[in-house]
Amino acid sequence: TEEMEVEFVKSSGKAKDCPRDDRPEFAILGRSNVGKSSLINVLARKKEVALTSKKPGKTQLINHFLVNKSWYLVDLPGYGFAKAPDSARMDWSSFTKGYFLNRETLVAVLLLIDASVPPQKIDLDCANWLGRNNIPMTLVFTKCDKMKGKRTRPDENIKNFQELMRQNYREHPAWIMTSSVTGLGRDELLLHMSQLRNY
Ligand code: GTP
Ligand code: MG
Repeated sequence: TEEMEVEFVKSSGKAKDCPRDDRPEFAILGRSNVGKSSLINVLARKKEVALTSKKPGKTQLINHFLVNKSWYLVDLPGYGFAKAPDSARMDWSSFTKGYFLNRETLVAVLLLIDASVPPQKIDLDCANWLGRNNIPMTLVFTKCDKMKGKRTRPDENIKNFQELMRQNYREHPAWIMTSSVTGLGRDELLLHMSQLRNY
């Protein structure tokens, strides 16, 4: 199990303000509250490298974290949350154009999907948008520990999500099951990212 040094570098409001060096990076994308910031803390094995909250809309800027002084993890604001005040909300349309379509150092997007709920249209739309634009993605299913009070189990939700994705993809993207509570998937995800970086 790999130890990681994770340091916060900067928050950017726009794609053009992101770090300009050539280090490879992975963007963490997904619905508000899906567990993006929590995942960074799990990878770092620290509680508060990235700030998390029970309330959706916690992360509002593009946050660059430098890992082992050699590559970046990028914590992004969540999509699908309408309640943040306009001033605090990122302009997703200009962000997507400015970042996803132009960031040359982007190795892959980690698209986080909440495994504790059935497939959501907004997540499928997001995956399809990335696919159409040829942006490499890995599906990271979060909250795989969460079963209490749920009508469907994480493994069923994941299977259903994948079936819906297969309608659009001949080759299903790589996928990993995770939990920031139990640490499930941490080492697998780190290995996966190191393979993508060295590819
Ligand atoms: P925004 O910044 O608002 O877009 O949210 P986020 O995707 O960064 O989510 P965050 O990491 O802040 O987590 C949201 C809530 O989900 C917090 O209360 C976390 O404790 C909880 N959570 C995150 N990951 C898991 C998980 O794997 N299992 C369980 N049970 N809860 C989780
Ligand atoms: Mg966050």
